[in-house]
Amino acid sequence: MKNILVTGGAGFIGSHTCVELLNDGYSVIVLDNLCNSKEGAIERIKTITGKELKFYKADLLDMKATEKVFAENEIDAVIHFAGLKAVGESVEKPLEYYENNIGGTFNLIKAMKKYNVKKIVFSSSATVYGVNNQVPYTEDMPTSATNPYGYTKVMIEQILHDMTVSDPQWSVVALRYFNPIGAHESGLIGENPNGIPNNLVPYIAQVALGKLAALRVFGDDYDTPDGTGVRDYIHVTDLAKGHLAALGYSEKNTGFQPINLGTGKGSSVLEVLHAYEKACGKTLPYNITPRRAGDIASSYAQTDLAKNLLNWEAKLDIEKMCQDSWNFTIKNPEGM
Ligand code: NAD
Ligand code: UFG
Repeated sequence: MKNILVTGGAGFIGSHTCVELLNDGYSVIVLDNLCNSKEGAIERIKTITGKELKFYKADLLDMKATEKVFAENEIDAVIHFAGLKAVGESVEKPLEYYENNIGGTFNLIKAMKKYNVKKIVFSSSATVYGVNNQVPYTEDMPTSATNPYGYTKVMIEQILHDMTVSDPQWSVVALRYFNPIGAHESGLIGENPNGIPNNLVPYIAQVALGKLAALRVFGDDYDTPDGTGVRDYIHVTDLAKGHLAALGYSEKNTGFQPINLGTGKGSSVLEVLHAYEKACGKTLPYNITPRRAGDIASSYAQTDLAKNLLNWEAKLDIEKMCQDSWNFTIKNPEGM
């Protein structure tokens, strides 16, 4: 297996995965419409790896443009990152989310069918565990959602599952990411949110830069060791490597397989803040505010399946995640 189509390859997780793919000897073809990324990321992937990749600025909603990528390349497998990902925005713009994430996946699957490509690794999310399961989350738990973004992940998993039923040669690995943070060690690629960040670590990074006054800690009355929310943060480089392991798995296995990618260890908001303070060498101001609507107390993964099926486990700790986030932030204070 050599030629990998990476949809959304200019984005945060996609760009890090392209680096790992190129370093491992794969040929990479990126399809991205740059709605949440910049072409500069593609140049930086080339700088980091010293290797070339093919880039198509194309929208998955454009069937012709999507098919063209398949027609011009002998694609062996697809890693499908392309999608909109902001939970709050998905509540405001549900149609845009359903159309882009599900419509885009439809076109991708249709093109895969036409060009006889039957292996796909899909970016799912721990969000599919909903609010009714108990931590640690295991892959056999029932899935559900509380917002349109989450529903797109639940539905796309179902659609891909149904593909494997209709054609037993299909191989689908749905990787359920926990909370990806950090950046490539080089500081050349990282997370680049537009406007004021919603997620914890990008927000803390802006506080450390002095662009935002203080972190708002959303609640300190959860049933967790220090009362603040607990999440399973995973370094984006570890996550990227999990995709290579999933490709290897899909070469030898067919059917639908969901797999958690997390560390199995939860960190609280205050623990992350303190790790970041260590990384940037500053004391970072924070205020305790009421809980954010829709948040749960704790989310972390049971990681045995990834170890057993993929022979993969996360290696980098929260200190390293914060160091690499800070290194990227000071090298790119205005973003990429
Ligand atoms: P990102 O926004 O940085 O990357 C997504 C990329 O897809 C962007 O470059 C964007 O331009 C592209 N894209 C979006 N719609 C497209 C379309 N219709 N056609 C072509 N390109 C399109 O996000 P990310 O953090 O790298 O996330 C990648 C995937 O992982 C997403 O599917 C996301 O839902 C999923 N995920 C992310 C997280 C997280 O916390 N970052 C957690 C769980 C799952
Ligand atoms: N938090 C704060 N202050 C902030 C931002 C976040 O206290 O300014 C807290 C939250 O309350 C939560 C923790 O930090 O306890 C992490 O919040 P994030 O917004 O960084 O991440 P979430 O776990 O809420 O959500 C993320 C992605 C979702 C995805 C989910 C599960 O944003 O898309 O992980 O994978 F669905």
